[in-house]
Amino acid sequence: MDTTLDDKVLSQPLEQQALDHVWIHSAQWNDLAKGGKLKVIERAEGSYIYDNHGRRYFDALSGLYVVNAGHGRKEIAEAIGAQAAKLAYVSSANMTNTPAVQLADKLASLTPGDLNRIFYCSGGSEAVESALKIAKQIQSLRGFKNRKKIIARKGGYHGATFGAMSVSHGRNEEYFAPFMEGVSFIASPNRYRNEFGLEGEAGDLRCAEALEEEILAQGPETVCAFIGAPISAANGTHVPSAAYWQKIREICTRYGVLMICDEVICGFGRTGAMFACNRFGVTPDLMTMAKGLTSGYVPMGAVAVSDKAYEVFKDTDAQLAHLLTFGGQAVAAAAALKNIEIMEREGLDTAGLRIEAALGKLFEPLKAHPTVGDIRGAGALWVLDLVQDKKTKENFGKGLAAQRHPYIQRLSALLEERGVLTRLMGTIQLVPPLIATDAELAEVVKAIDESLSIAEQEFQFR
Ligand SMILES: Cc1ncc(COP(=O)(O)O)c(C=O)c1O
Repeated sequence: MDTTLDDKVLSQPLEQQALDHVWIHSAQWNDLAKGGKLKVIERAEGSYIYDNHGRRYFDALSGLYVVNAGHGRKEIAEAIGAQAAKLAYVSSANMTNTPAVQLADKLASLTPGDLNRIFYCSGGSEAVESALKIAKQIQSLRGFKNRKKIIARKGGYHGATFGAMSVSHGRNEEYFAPFMEGVSFIASPNRYRNEFGLEGEAGDLRCAEALEEEILAQGPETVCAFIGAPISAANGTHVPSAAYWQKIREICTRYGVLMICDEVICGFGRTGAMFACNRFGVTPDLMTMAKGLTSGYVPMGAVAVSDKAYEVFKDTDAQLAHLLTFGGQAVAAAAALKNIEIMEREGLDTAGLRIEAALGKLFEPLKAHPTVGDIRGAGALWVLDLVQDKKTKENFGKGLAAQRHPYIQRLSALLEERGVLTRLMGTIQLVPPLIATDAELAEVVKAIDESLSIAEQEFQFR
């Protein structure tokens, strides 16, 4: 195999050490090594990250949809330090700690309806894994021993551990099958390429009907739960109407199916409300969260469970058959509390609405680009859907294939030259920290506009 390194990379020892020893998640080694694309980030402030050569980049994906409160928050760092000095860790079994209690109380007040019971974990996959196990145990304790099946959605992503991966549509059959049994996938809202050929809300509602059809096809007495992200970034950031989620809620209730909303990306202000469920006016039975819970200052995840769903644990002498060593770790809880305090103080929970209005306007002229098929989003969660042909809506491939398409690679390089780092696959994603100013957003959109113009001319898209 040709593993020749880019000269630039060889002369930079930290990058070389990283190439030698760090296993970068989900990256292809040769892409990083040959392309000299591996970045070692040293510091960050506000909406910007700085590499070890002092180059500045706008963090257009908030890390990985994480840094909602922005980088360089000294207050969070201080809260972390103070809590670590006072109490870092006590067992998560049989006891808890002060910040974990305070955080649970806070989360209960922020989540919709009666989501008042908080199970802590260390990240999004663990949150989903935990929600699936909790849902299965609830059904069993309620006497529904056969309710084991999970209905998820096409295009959805819920994590990398086995249970979470099993309910993720892009799961890799070749490497990892067999998966958790009893998972099926239904259509997900998509107003640009709707599976049923419908437009607008009618298309969303038809996707909700697909849940009822699937429950009936599987046999309601065998279905444990439905899982979906309020707005699925993995599936292209299609924004359904509130009516879609309300219909999903109604169908789940009617058939005794537990509704799990995966707010790992959508939570903590990302869609212009503390949780997207607030925006859509629904209360699921279980809600997963992570990422923006601490804005990435330390890892943490959680599952919020409704009083109604938790009830069976009070009524029986069953204990939850699930234990994670780091659930409710005190330092993580202190970081989350400070993060939420900042979000509330600075109005970051609703800053997404300002960003939505600003990006809505800024993006308007970009619709004229020949390779921009659609621009959509909510709050601070947006994509430009890239197409080779606006009429046929032919895209640039899926996943890695799209990432490696010469046009997408060129666009990525042009954006990087302009100091913008984001994720480019079939779409350009713009998911800024919630503190991004209108002026910063205008600069980023200008960089996207320029990059598109140059790449389109070079590749003769008109
Ligand atoms: C909706 C959703 N759920 C779960 C996860 C898994 O989270 P983590 O990577 O923290 O395990 C992700 C990750 O991006 C996600 O987008």
